Amino acid sequence: MTLRACARGCATSSIMVAMAWIAPLAGQKGDALIKTSDCSSCHTADRQLVGPSYSAMAKRYAGQAGAADKIALKIRDGGPSMPPHPNLTDAQRSEIATWILSTGGTAEPLQAEFPHKLKDGSTVNLDFSVYAEGVSPKVTKEVFHGYQLFNSYCYRCHGTDATGGQLAPDLRRSLTSGMKRQEFAAAVVTGRVDKGMPGWEGFLSGEDIVHIYQYVKGRSLDLVPAGRPPSTQD
Ligand code: HEC
Ligand code: HEC
Repeated sequence: MTLRACARGCATSSIMVAMAWIAPLAGQKGDALIKTSDCSSCHTADRQLVGPSYSAMAKRYAGQAGAADKIALKIRDGGPSMPPHPNLTDAQRSEIATWILSTGGTAEPLQAEFPHKLKDGSTVNLDFSVYAEGVSPKVTKEVFHGYQLFNSYCYRCHGTDATGGQLAPDLRRSLTSGMKRQEFAAAVVTGRVDKGMPGWEGFLSGEDIVHIYQYVKGRSLDLVPAGRPPSTQD
């Protein structure tokens, strides 16, 4: 079975493959370890993806006593939306922590706010724009890509156009009842294997997952219609 097929179907053996990759890497530098671990599904050097950028982490921890140890612990134990990494050794985790701190903490651009007018006349601010021209109807290429991915991989359980299915919850409702982007992304990366939801780590990139999130968020606010949304690619 290829890693690709496995990442969709059987999380355990994909973790075994990942461990086999990581084991011989003891002593490698932090950035190399990051590249061979799962971090890049959720973090980038200088941009918020699912989690904060390394640069934002470095800035947040700059000047704190025991910063490297705190970061190493975080990597080991994970958090509400981040998986733990018991497969990395203490030495590897501190290599990564040292590298993160070395990225210098250049300032992260402020999260822009994009106001969107809803059908009931109220306005919500999102941290991305649903529409390419700032106004309905053409969606951004990211939202359109999310639509394509959703209706290729997720619809069979979560329903065509994210309307909910027999097998799995209506994800629009998950978002309207308060699920955050990072919780959504974490559920997609790790899956809920015991409940029948495969993990998508290694198959979908962090960007892919953010695009799916943006699509579902747009659907949940009724900003994106059912079916193929109008896009700049038309
Ligand atoms: C499934 C997505 C995901 C993966 C994979 C992931 N992280 Fe995270 N990470 C997050 C999220 C979301 C947060 C912020 C919320 C939290 O703490 O859970 C975070 C927080 C962190 C923090 C703490 C930042 C702070 O300001 O306190 C560090 C350090 C970190 N990640 C490093 C890593 C490293 C190194 C890896 C790979 C070995 C990794 N993460 C893998 C999602 C992820
Ligand atoms: C084989 C069926 C199946 C497929 C395919 C599937 N899921 Fe799921 N998903 C589930 C099930 C079942 C649950 C509910 C698990 C539970 O009860 O906690 C779920 C839960 C979730 C949740 C958490 C929802 C919540 O409210 O807690 C998210 C987010 C999610 N799926 C996203 C996706 C995305 C995005 C895709 C496509 C990349 C996808 N799923 C593909 C079956 C599936």
